[in-house]
Amino acid sequence: SPLALYYFPSITSTNDIAREYLKTSDQPLLVVAEHQTGGRGRRGRQWASCYAHNLLFTYGVPRFSAMQGLEGLSLLVGLTLVDVVNASLGVDAKVKWPNDVLINGAKLAGVLVEIQGDIGGDYSLIIGVGLNVNESPSVGDREVTSLMKNFGRAINRSELLVAFVDQLRRNINLFCLEGFSSFSGRWNEMDAYRGCQVQVEQGGEILVGLSRGVNANGVLDIEVEGELRSVHGGEVSLRAV
Ligand code: BTN
Repeated sequence: SPLALYYFPSITSTNDIAREYLKTSDQPLLVVAEHQTGGRGRRGRQWASCYAHNLLFTYGVPRFSAMQGLEGLSLLVGLTLVDVVNASLGVDAKVKWPNDVLINGAKLAGVLVEIQGDIGGDYSLIIGVGLNVNESPSVGDREVTSLMKNFGRAINRSELLVAFVDQLRRNINLFCLEGFSSFSGRWNEMDAYRGCQVQVEQGGEILVGLSRGVNANGVLDIEVEGELRSVHGGEVSLRAV
């Protein structure tokens, strides 16, 4: 079905606006902003951006009914970003579990997937993406990068947005039919931390081990003292050690 497009010079958060619209709309939608006053990241973090330099948007899907876990879906969004920017600009972006996008270890994009409604029943999908296109806003002490830094010149944001949303819609259709299993191999191929020593904090517990990639459901395996431990997405953070 056709995509409803909403464009704002400045708003609180594209995810929040999409959530409001999805309460009444039964059409897929795209909310795009040049600037956010309350841009949110995962784990309660803030998402900063420079006016009109980057991409800040939310793709909303009403009455989503994937029988598959949402865990894999958010991994799919990061993977789609990686594939689209690598194919269209020849950069070397990688995924970082659960859904960051990195170039040479620096953060290029982040994904915040939320839902509107009841997870056990009818719900709408809210897929928020922040992509550093022509500027890398500094946030705290995390290393950030932009596409322009790696590509060498300014990039047309509209073309990139169209290419991404187009590919994302196709990938979500396949995800609805086959789940994450059709993407897990590719995700592992593009994993920035594959085989690396990592540290994961999950529910207060800190796991240190070798990253062994994701399974067909998008669950991450970490090898700790010869044993595989499963790590689920959500309120989890991972870093290289
Ligand atoms: C993260 O890396 O923690 C996720 C960042 C997600 C940021 C995007 S920008 C568009 C959308 N609106 C928000 O408030 N957040 C997401």
